[in-house]
Amino acid sequence: MRKKVTKAIFPVAGLGTRFLPATKSVPKEIMTLVDRPLVQYAIDEARAAGIKEFIFVTSRGKGALEDYFDHAPALEQELRRKNKTKLLEILKSTNMDSGEIAYVRQHKALGLGHAVWCARRLIANEPFAVILPDDVIAAEKPCLQQMVEAYEETGGNIVAAMEVPPEKAGAYGVLDVAEDMGPVVSVKGMVEKPKAEEAPSNLAVIGRYILTPSVLQNLNRMKQGAGGEIQLTDAIAADIEAGNPVFGYRFRGQRFDCGSKAGFLQATVAFALARDDLREELWQYLNEIVQVDKAAQ
Ligand code: UTP
Repeated sequence: MRKKVTKAIFPVAGLGTRFLPATKSVPKEIMTLVDRPLVQYAIDEARAAGIKEFIFVTSRGKGALEDYFDHAPALEQELRRKNKTKLLEILKSTNMDSGEIAYVRQHKALGLGHAVWCARRLIANEPFAVILPDDVIAAEKPCLQQMVEAYEETGGNIVAAMEVPPEKAGAYGVLDVAEDMGPVVSVKGMVEKPKAEEAPSNLAVIGRYILTPSVLQNLNRMKQGAGGEIQLTDAIAADIEAGNPVFGYRFRGQRFDCGSKAGFLQATVAFALARDDLREELWQYLNEIVQVDKAAQ
């Protein structure tokens, strides 16, 4: 029987420079998609996949993120007093149990690989998930849950993979595919941010991973990779060289890059249109501006 994946690392220590000046004081992960912070979507997805321990890798200036997970008894009491049952339920559904959540500090933004490595003592010798909250995935079955189900069959390391056109490959880690078995592909190499002509496939890695502890040992030994940062991709690729299997998983769902402004705006529209209470009004507005634009052409 495979060991269950019950721990997830959420690296949230990045500087979020693409959202300056907002990220001077607001952590990117707390920015709201409709009415929920990005991090709440990540927590909900992890819970649906069976995660019981939530490990955040934070940094200086992320206090608002830690505060978000505190219970709010005064606010709850006020909502109860005013009989706002629905709001109360929404608020309570975000509560974390004591001891469920842990924070470790990344003292310097040395890259995603380094951020994951900072959580090594809380992982010990078991498989774990990594979720990047700025990759938001709209899916019928949450992406990490799909991956956990695949992991139960394959074991090894699994990375979420998405098809991208060659000119976009340079923004991602790209898989060198050994065998394509449908949603799951076995991987013989990974290249971080390749040039379009050097991308080994059209399968890019996005922010969901199930990893074995040997990746943490690889991170122990890592030198600095592309861009002077310690890359998680390099540590996973090193596992292939050590003879440990790595799989790509083509998830079913739509991924939004909420680390970029355009992606964040697209996600906002998509998530708002999926909401009964907002769809009609937003749709009408979008139609109006499209009509005005067409008329102007
Ligand atoms: P990004 O590449 O989006 O970097 O990190 P960033 O700092 O968040 O944002 P920009 O590029 O400056 O706008 C991807 C994920 O890895 C985490 C980030 O918090 C984000 O969740 N990360 C990145 C760390 O935790 N530590 C790092 O040193 C780098």
